[in-house]
Amino acid sequence: MIYSKIIGVGHYVPDNIITNQYLESIMDTTDAWITERTGIKERRYFTYGKDTNASMATEAAQIAIERAGITPQDIDFIVYATITPDYYFPGPGFVLQRNLGIQNVGVLDIRDQCSGFVYAIATADQFIRSGMYKNILVIGAEVQSTFLNHSTEGRGVAVIFGDGAGAAVLQATTDKNHRILSTHLHADGNFAEDLYVKDPGSTREKRFFDDLIADKSTGEVIMNGNMVFKHAIVRFPEVIKEALTANQLTPQDIDLLVPHQANLRISEYVRQQMGLPEEKVMNNIQKYGNTTAASIPIALSEAWESGRVKDGNLICLAAFGSGFTWGSALIRW
Ligand code: COA
Repeated sequence: MIYSKIIGVGHYVPDNIITNQYLESIMDTTDAWITERTGIKERRYFTYGKDTNASMATEAAQIAIERAGITPQDIDFIVYATITPDYYFPGPGFVLQRNLGIQNVGVLDIRDQCSGFVYAIATADQFIRSGMYKNILVIGAEVQSTFLNHSTEGRGVAVIFGDGAGAAVLQATTDKNHRILSTHLHADGNFAEDLYVKDPGSTREKRFFDDLIADKSTGEVIMNGNMVFKHAIVRFPEVIKEALTANQLTPQDIDLLVPHQANLRISEYVRQQMGLPEEKVMNNIQKYGNTTAASIPIALSEAWESGRVKDGNLICLAAFGSGFTWGSALIRW
């Protein structure tokens, strides 16, 4: 039987630190409001001319590949999750592939927003289990800062999001004791417009650029925060329990939960619902904000670097986001 296992993780965050105090200076908000409602103290923004979505992914990928003990030439497929590609098309996977010097390797872009990395891991896992590929590079990367409205009007969304990239290398294995145990994906399109960016979409009668001049807001993130919150705190525990049940395991078996870093209050609520102690939940939203598809691989890489992910540990990745989408991946490390 072929399984997949994660053999290397890496991340890159831009060096431009945006503190809550800086946001206080450009919009009507306070450090106290942001900290209390989201847990975020600072986030990173890309530096124009230095960072792009694909360049950050390249940095993260190079670290993950090196830690995996392989070379870019060993990668035989790329699965890339993002909602903020360098170009509207083609996706950033092509730029990453070029940067890594591995032309001819297939590239698949995943657009599942904050659940993107879990969807990407599930996809890569299936390609490996089917025997089609042996070493798959999985990316979650975002440049969101340029989609945000930094005036007071956009403060409910702008304070939450940040930029960054994370990567993982999945490899084929027959070792039942070190592998991805299962993945679980869900979506409910009834809430498509509760967290979305309308343009550049194809729902217009004519060229959207003409309309954008009149209404720039259609290029911004629109979020029904209360609705997102209400659903997230139900779907996170649900999909974590689904993964545990599928593997005859219980919350007590989890060594580390790495949730999508949506909001510290959401993660804290989920932790309590699952009956997990604080040290078993990875939180780094305080430093990076919500980096959408990048948040789980950045958190996983940081957890690994700090020794919180050890051989044999049961690691649970869980996500919720726009779509709505949600999913989990249970891993015996
Ligand atoms: N600074 C100061 N005040 C702000 C603010 C900011 N950055 N953003 C909103 N406010 C104000 C609102 O204008 C509102 O003022 P009013 O009462 O005078 O009208 C008040 O704060 C409450 O706004 P509300 O949107 O009801 O706050 P909330 O308690 O629901 O918190 C979120 C807002 C966005 C933090 C919260 O809904 C949330 O975390 N939702 C989930 C979002 C999420 O996780 N998104 C990512 C999903 S992957």
